[in-house]
Amino acid sequence: MGLDIDALGEDVGLFDAIRTCRHIRRLKPDPVPEALVRKVCEAGTFAPSGGNRQPWLFVAVMDAERRRFIAERYREAFMSYIEPARQAAAAPDYPDAKRRNMKAAIYLAEHLHEAPVHLFIAGWKRRGEPQTQALYPAIQNILLACRAVGLGASLTSAHRAFGAEIDEFLGLSEATPSCALLPIGWPKGRYGRPPRASIDEKLFFDRVEGLDLAPRERRSDAPR
Ligand SMILES: Cc1cc2nc3c(=O)[nH]c(=O)nc-3n(C[C@H](O)[C@H](O)[C@H](O)COP(=O)(O)O)c2cc1C
Repeated sequence: MGLDIDALGEDVGLFDAIRTCRHIRRLKPDPVPEALVRKVCEAGTFAPSGGNRQPWLFVAVMDAERRRFIAERYREAFMSYIEPARQAAAAPDYPDAKRRNMKAAIYLAEHLHEAPVHLFIAGWKRRGEPQTQALYPAIQNILLACRAVGLGASLTSAHRAFGAEIDEFLGLSEATPSCALLPIGWPKGRYGRPPRASIDEKLFFDRVEGLDLAPRERRSDAPR
């Protein structure tokens, strides 16, 4: 029996989806129907945007050869980005959760060509600066929609190291740079709650009191 794409995901509770929308980086190579890609992208279009400009463009790369071209560049960019963390993770006291996250991200970099959909989200520039912040509400909607319909997805940006070359490859102009690449496919594993600090450590009413930042977080130039 084929997938009933109209019905898929419509009965998933919003809070359940939010709490279990973790990054799924281990994906099956099985194809994803174009109509389902359309459905999750349409969820993106319901995001807010400044002046309701709706600046997003979605480019879903499904062709295997084209995905290979993208994956080669992503892998090179991501592996050089992650190298310092990889070395740091050799220390026995490196936190397990961070090590697991890093391993999953490396797995994705090594298997990106197998992900059946490479979904790029592109936007616009103001005074020469890409307005990436204008796209993240739409991106989060797409991640939630993927969660609802049972697709695995993650948010990546490492391809930006090859931004101009990849954008040209995608047919995007300099005025509409890509901001994110969401590898999407059917998950090998299961959704679950991601590790997060308690809301009690993050929420303050009226005024921040007693916040004890780790030394790294105190620096305003700390990397993501
Ligand atoms: C702006 C932004 C850029 C990111 N870029 C990458 C990336 O290039 N590659 C990657 O594997 N993950 C990337 N991530 C994913 C984070 O590493 C991810 O949020 C983290 O692993 C948490 O995953 P979880 O929701 O499963 O806990 C990015 C996340 C954000 C918000």
